Amino acid sequence: MATLCAGLKCLPWEQARVDLGLKLVREGDTDLYVPEKSLAGGAPDTYPVFYNPAAKTNRDISVCVASVTRPATFLDALAGTGARGVRVGNEGNRGRGKGAAPQVTLVDFNRMSLQVARRNVKLNGLGRRCTVTHSETNRFLCSRFDRGEKFEAVDVDPFGSPAPYIQAALTACAPGAILSFTATDAAVLCGVYPLVSLRRYGASSIRNEFVHETGLRTLMGFAARAGGVNDIGVEPVLAHSTLHYLRVYLRVRRGATEADRAMEGLGYVTQCNTCLERWASKLPSERCDSCGRKVRSSGPLWTGKVAESGLVSQSAKFGSERGWKEAESIIASLGRVDDFPPFSYSLERACSLKKVSSTSVEKVIGELQSNGFSAMRQPFELDGIKTDATHEEFVQAVVAASRLLR
Ligand SMILES: C[S@@+](CC[C@H](N)C(=O)[O-])C[C@H]1O[C@@H](n2cnc3c(N)ncnc32)[C@H](O)[C@@H]1O
Ligand SMILES: [Zn+2]
Repeated sequence: MATLCAGLKCLPWEQARVDLGLKLVREGDTDLYVPEKSLAGGAPDTYPVFYNPAAKTNRDISVCVASVTRPATFLDALAGTGARGVRVGNEGNRGRGKGAAPQVTLVDFNRMSLQVARRNVKLNGLGRRCTVTHSETNRFLCSRFDRGEKFEAVDVDPFGSPAPYIQAALTACAPGAILSFTATDAAVLCGVYPLVSLRRYGASSIRNEFVHETGLRTLMGFAARAGGVNDIGVEPVLAHSTLHYLRVYLRVRRGATEADRAMEGLGYVTQCNTCLERWASKLPSERCDSCGRKVRSSGPLWTGKVAESGLVSQSAKFGSERGWKEAESIIASLGRVDDFPPFSYSLERACSLKKVSSTSVEKVIGELQSNGFSAMRQPFELDGIKTDATHEEFVQAVVAASRLLR
């Protein structure tokens, strides 16, 4: 059992002896002390120290990406127990020689979390490779203006929205760095609270059949505009929507030309709620081209590419070699995502619209392909198919696939 604050300068509210009840767990190839209570199931407590065992896959993917992109420095900007940063320091670049592992910095403003993070650094023998820093995150990020001090990878994993940190995080990124961030305010990004989305991300998020993709693209668009303020461009390289959170990885390009180029990736997506047709456009739409009814567009959001194919295939391979099936399948699901428009169709909704019995995604994809269309499973939604067919053509394929079942 660990107690708090021995030998540490603590804030008054931290001075009470708090029993963190730490337990040793193994994630990937890394041993970690974590609060035992957080292993009980359900949503883990945020106080006194936060650790979410359900985010293992999220961290597996971080290790996969770091192993492929091989940053010399990695900043875990909201580190908690240090689970992510310690794993990247311990497992990233494994097998490529010791010197290839990144130098990791762990930052958090919760001294109790840092107490645990320090133990985790020590436990894994990473004393020389990991620095643990007590700071408010934006304060730390904004102090990284000297060129040589910038990081080659920055991870932002907050409670809720990453929006307050993105601009500072981008300025702390070296040229070519990978910025990754989590958003757990999925309801906001997925169209449940359009007003909050507007004030938080400067973008309208309207409910549609591909809300998680819309949320991810809203985050990417937000980062592109936040970077543009400081002549920084971004290129999304990987994204996923898992459990209750959305996660984005971007490559950061410095310079006005790169920032201008990133603006080309911005646009709007619209789903007509009358005829259910959908499209992407540079400007918001007022009426549906197919049925003429009024529509509302989501955006500005990122309508450009969301995955870098080499990084995706190598990261999936890394995950597969480690036996991380969920991480591998999430990453590999992105394989052809950029061959399709930035939206998808819901199979369930099409079945209920046409009052036909439900059928499988595979059967509908097969039907679309035999009609000459391209199609793939939507990687960001539980129920969805990406295709170059129109909604009407999609629905016909669903009806045909459903009849095949009889
Ligand atoms: C979701 S947890 C991080 C989890 C961790 N990345 C992991 O994978 O286990 C968010 C952390 O951010 C810290 N935090 C929240 N706001 C902060 C701020 N403004 N500055 C520094 N740390 C902050 C909290 O103390 C908490 O440890
Ligand atoms: Zn319409």
